[in-house]
Amino acid sequence: MKAIVYKGPRDVAVQKVPDARIEKATDVLVKITTTNICGSDLHMYEGRTNMEPGRIIGHENLGTVIEIGSAVDRVKRGDRVCMPFNISCGFCENCERGLTGFCLTTNPGNAGAAYGFAGMGPYSGGQAELLRVPYADFNCLVLPPDAEEKENDYVMLSDIFPTGYHATELAGVQAGDSVVIYGAGPVGLMAAYSAIIKGAGKVMVVDMHKDRLALAEKIGAIAVDDSDGFGVEQVMAMTAGIGADRGCECVGYQCCDHKGHEVPNLTMNNLVKIVRPTGGIGVVGVFIPEDPQAKDKLARQGQIAFDFGQFWSKGQHMATGQANVKAYNRKLCKLIAEGKAKPSFIISHELPLDRAAEAYENFDARKEGWTKVILKPGH
Ligand SMILES: NC(=O)c1ccc[n+]([C@@H]2O[C@H](COP(=O)([O-])OP(=O)(O)OC[C@H]3O[C@@H](n4cnc5c(N)ncnc54)[C@H](O)[C@@H]3O)[C@@H](O)[C@H]2O)c1
Ligand SMILES: [Zn+2]
Ligand SMILES: [Zn+2]
Repeated sequence: MKAIVYKGPRDVAVQKVPDARIEKATDVLVKITTTNICGSDLHMYEGRTNMEPGRIIGHENLGTVIEIGSAVDRVKRGDRVCMPFNISCGFCENCERGLTGFCLTTNPGNAGAAYGFAGMGPYSGGQAELLRVPYADFNCLVLPPDAEEKENDYVMLSDIFPTGYHATELAGVQAGDSVVIYGAGPVGLMAAYSAIIKGAGKVMVVDMHKDRLALAEKIGAIAVDDSDGFGVEQVMAMTAGIGADRGCECVGYQCCDHKGHEVPNLTMNNLVKIVRPTGGIGVVGVFIPEDPQAKDKLARQGQIAFDFGQFWSKGQHMATGQANVKAYNRKLCKLIAEGKAKPSFIISHELPLDRAAEAYENFDARKEGWTKVILKPGH
C-alpha cells in the first residue's frame, strides 16, 4: 500500500510499504478515504519529538471497513467509520470512566495510545491506503447514512472537533460565558465553534494569522490580532478590565511571540493574566515531558516558568491533556447529522495522498490560506 512515512525532520515521503493487516481477532481493517494533517503531526514533522524514522503518520482517519477480525461483533464489513485518534481498550480503569485518552492497556507503561504518534505506542498511522484498527468494536464510530455526503465534516470527529470541545469542557464553558482562546489553528477554531455551540456570550480568538482569524470571525467569534503584541490589552478591554470567564490554550509548547520567536510559557501566562479571578483554563495545546531541541533551558526539560503566584492568587483552576475523543464524538456526530454543526468550514485544501510532502511543507509554514489539509488516499 501507499503511505506517508516520516523520514526525518521536515522530510516525509509517500512510499510503498507492506499492507496493514488484521493482527488480532479484535481488529478491523479500514480502507482510508479521508485522513487529515494535524498540528500535532507538525511537532513530529519538525523533528521536535522522538518520532522514529520509517513510521507511518496520521491519526485523523475515516474510511470503510473491508475486513473484520474473528472476535469483532458490532462493526460490519462495509461500515463507514471514523476513528478517534486515541486507541483505547474500553475495559481498563480509565476507559471505564470515559478517559479513553489515557487507556492503560494499549500503550503499556504509559497512559494513552494513538495512531502514528510519537510516544503513544507502536501503531501505524492512517495517512495511508489501509489502517489496522485495534479493539475495533470499541474504537470505531459507525457513521450515519449520510456518511459519504458529509465525509469532510465527519472526519473532524477523529480529533479536532472533539478536542476543541474538550478544551471548552476543561475550561468549564457554560452558556453566557466570555471565552478567550489562544490559537486560531484548527483546534482553536474548533474550540471557538464548540463554545459558540454551547451558547457562550462572547468568544475571542487570539492569533497572528489573518486568514485564520478571518475564519474565527466567520463563525461569530471576535478576532484578536496579536501581530503587534497587544492581544492581552485587547482582551482586557473587551472584558471590562476583569478578564474572560474561561480560557482555552490551543497552541502548545511551540507557541511564539508576535515576532515569531518561540516563548514556551507565553500563552499559559497570558491566560493567567486575562482569565478573571476564579475562572477556568483548559489546556489542549500539547506540552511534552522533554524537548531536547528547545532553545529555552527549562523547556528542554519539559518545564515552563509559570506564573503560579498569580494563578493561585486569582483562584483560577486549570485542566489539561489529550482529548478523550470517545466522550464527545457520538454527540458531535449527531450535531453534524442534524445539520447543526459543519466543522468542514476550516478545510482549505483537499489533496491526494501523493501531494503530502507539499501539504506538510505549506501547512507547517502556516502559509497564508493553508488552514487545514485533508488527504484522499483513493484519488
Ligand atoms: N490535546 C489534544 O488532544 C490535542 C489534539 C489535537 C491537537 N492538539 C494540539 O493542539 C495544538 C494546536 O493544534 P492545531 O492543529 O490547531 O495547530 P496549528 O499549529 O495549525 O495552530 C496553532 C496556531 O497557534 C498560533 N499561535 C502560535 N503562537 C501563538 C501565540 N503566542 N498566541 C496566539 N496564537 C499563537 C499559530 O499562529 C497557529 O495558527 C497543537 O499543540 C496540537 O498538537 C492537541
Ligand atoms: Zn490531530
Ligand atoms: Zn483502556
